[in-house]
Amino acid sequence: MSHFTRQHEVLYCEDVSLEDIAATHGTPTYVYSAASIDAAFNAYQRALQGRSHLICYAVKANSNLAILNRLAQQGAGFDVVSAGELERVLHAGGDAGKVVFSGVGKTRTELALALEKGIRCFNVESESELMQLAEVASALRKTAPVSIRINPDVDAGTHPYISTGLRENKFGVDATTARRLYRIARNTDALNPIGLDCHIGSQIMDVNPFLEAVDFLIAMIDDLRKEDILISHLDIGGGLGVSYEAAAPPIADYIAAVLDRLSALDVELVLEPGRSIVAMAGVLVTKVEHLKPTSHRNFAIVDAAMNDLLRPALYGAWQEICPVTPRSGEIVEWDVVGPVCETADFLGKARPLALAQGDLLSIMGAGAYGYSMSSNYNSRPRAAEVLVDGDSVHLIGQRESLETLWQRESIPTRRSQ
Ligand code: LLP
Repeated sequence: MSHFTRQHEVLYCEDVSLEDIAATHGTPTYVYSAASIDAAFNAYQRALQGRSHLICYAVKANSNLAILNRLAQQGAGFDVVSAGELERVLHAGGDAGKVVFSGVGKTRTELALALEKGIRCFNVESESELMQLAEVASALRKTAPVSIRINPDVDAGTHPYISTGLRENKFGVDATTARRLYRIARNTDALNPIGLDCHIGSQIMDVNPFLEAVDFLIAMIDDLRKEDILISHLDIGGGLGVSYEAAAPPIADYIAAVLDRLSALDVELVLEPGRSIVAMAGVLVTKVEHLKPTSHRNFAIVDAAMNDLLRPALYGAWQEICPVTPRSGEIVEWDVVGPVCETADFLGKARPLALAQGDLLSIMGAGAYGYSMSSNYNSRPRAAEVLVDGDSVHLIGQRESLETLWQRESIPTRRSQ
């Protein structure tokens, strides 16, 4: 069920009209529905009831403190990929003991920080990282809980930029290397191999690649058991797609299929969903600044751009664009573009809309990888973010001021001639 509905034609987020939000907070503004985030998280919780599990929300999808806090209060753990994400989670009230740390390039400083904070598990992606973790842990007189990220060489059938489980991708290690790393971990005092993990990609629309990966992991756990390496935590990553255009598998169906595969296995199941929790909970509200019909294409130039929402420019991603208040008039195909000086700066192409200057548009499914991938390109301040909860609107991310754009910069004083 969407929490973005029309009341008297106007688009609402829960009980608040997007028109009112734009009038109060300006545009472009990200608007998130609290009920929608809760519903997606609960769908995971419900589907996993009765099974030992931990849902580690992938912070990279949307790392706003208010959203992390809301999920933490519901018992979520977190999947982080940097010191910044770890500190954000802790700042938002998350529990370090429920954090898994993913990523191919963890630095010494990040490893030390995560060890000091006492995270649940390091998802290790290479021999070099494992050795570095052992060194850092031993210097701190700590034992690092370790999981090795397997690359199962499974085709997730998604965009090549967000496919991670193929041999040619930089992520994880193959089964032979994994076995070797587990032996090293077992024989190193500062390392405790407790888990096995994988993540094969994002926006995956078919459950089968997940099941293929799970089968691979089950076989690996059996192999390791023969060497007396006992895995108690199985992390199957994130990656479940959402319905931007075509229908994605429901969370409950995906989990049911996975649980069916794991019925004989006594391990805690860890998941790292990001998009499927927050994508459909957010929209980006933007205003039409100019209409520019030309002999070839019609451009609707809006006040949001690729720096606010990069997905269309980077992956050619399609996200629905709706008028906040539909108007009557001729429907024309518009390329909805931003003001940034790049031809890649589009939010949608050939969208049939009746538009006038000043109209508000809502870009749907913008709760994941929207704000979190935004930048200041073209010296554009980042958008505001609001969280709607019933009829309350909370400003959870202030629009950046122009001054903050150059706050970190300085002009060197010139030596006098
Ligand atoms: N775990 C790991 C190790 C990951 O790398 C990712 C996403 C996730 C979990 C969460 O995956 P999700 O459930 O959100 O699919 N910017 C791209 C998506 C990049 C995903 C990167 N890794 C986009 O906008 O489509």
